[in-house]
Amino acid sequence: MRKISLTGIKPTGSLHIGNYFGAIKPALELTKEYDARYFIADYHALNTMKDPKELNATIRHVAAGWLAAGLDPEKVIFYRQSAIPEIFELTAMLMAFTAKGLMNRAHAYKAAVQENGEKGDDTDAGINMGLYTYPVLMAADIIIFDSDVVPVGKDQVQHIEMAQDIAQSVNANYGKQVLKIPQPAVQEDFAVVPGMDGRKMSKSYGNTIPLFAPEKTLQKTIMRIVTNSQSVEEPKNPDESQIFQLYKLFTQSGEQDAFAKRYRAGGMGWGDAKEELFRVVNRELSPIRERYDAIMADIPALDKILEQGAERARPIAAATVKRFRKAAGID
Ligand code: ADP
Ligand code: TRP
Repeated sequence: MRKISLTGIKPTGSLHIGNYFGAIKPALELTKEYDARYFIADYHALNTMKDPKELNATIRHVAAGWLAAGLDPEKVIFYRQSAIPEIFELTAMLMAFTAKGLMNRAHAYKAAVQENGEKGDDTDAGINMGLYTYPVLMAADIIIFDSDVVPVGKDQVQHIEMAQDIAQSVNANYGKQVLKIPQPAVQEDFAVVPGMDGRKMSKSYGNTIPLFAPEKTLQKTIMRIVTNSQSVEEPKNPDESQIFQLYKLFTQSGEQDAFAKRYRAGGMGWGDAKEELFRVVNRELSPIRERYDAIMADIPALDKILEQGAERARPIAAATVKRFRKAAGID
């Protein structure tokens, strides 16, 4: 039997290059070797997205993004989290095995508490229970499909470790393997994609290069990448430049070596470097953008794909819940 790879993306904003290289591409690569279940984590998004129109549109945007990037819905079970009620039943069961202290240590929650502290607000200001218990729902997402590996960016590894902890407490309690223990799969090469300002590319920093922006917008965005004040003549160090870090994602060693040479030789200004980056980014993203536009032009067909995925996913999810309920004496 092939092993199972599972991952989800929260529809909380426009997909960017960090999502593409850190999540979508490595996950699609794994579909060659694994049976994959990939999904839109729309109940996770509800924690922060309270505008129904926006959430509705972002769900379709992310779903179309997966398909445009090459997800084959015949091969991959592709669905919306919200279409699988068994996930929420499993979440309730896992709650009983999750130490409150474990949730206190979650990075996202700790960061929110710290931010409140810095602003002088109440520590719990703006933190809902969905955010606080986020790792339990995520554990359920993973565990319900007996996942072996979970491709994610580095920032998500803690959540997978929490899923391991929670599943282990269940197994330890019943003295047998009721739930499978998942492993994170981090693509080390491009584990953290830098943003326009050199920090991690993230919606929350507003430093993203969007995946499906029209060509002109893409070019304008790339031209706004932050650089230092080195003059055109000065030789430059490619390893200290986020333009070069981004370039590496879109090219092989031949082009990389040639570009690094231009850096070191001097005579290449930042404007030229950005033009060269735009050329290779646009080369890779153009066909994906075209597929995305075509998918977004037929939303009912997109929804149908997601519904068919959910129909395939539900019996698998139901079997896990049944197994757990039996072990727990609730059968
Ligand atoms: P954001 O930080 O923009 O809010 P998300 O948290 O929604 O992005 O991330 C969705 C997925 O994309 C996760 O698996 C995350 O690890 C990955 N990801 C996001 N930004 C990056 C990045 N800059 N580099 C690598 N992976 C990333
Ligand atoms: N927490 C993930 C993120 O912010 C999204 C997510 C939800 C997820 N459930 C998951 C990822 C299960 C992997 C597996 O990016």
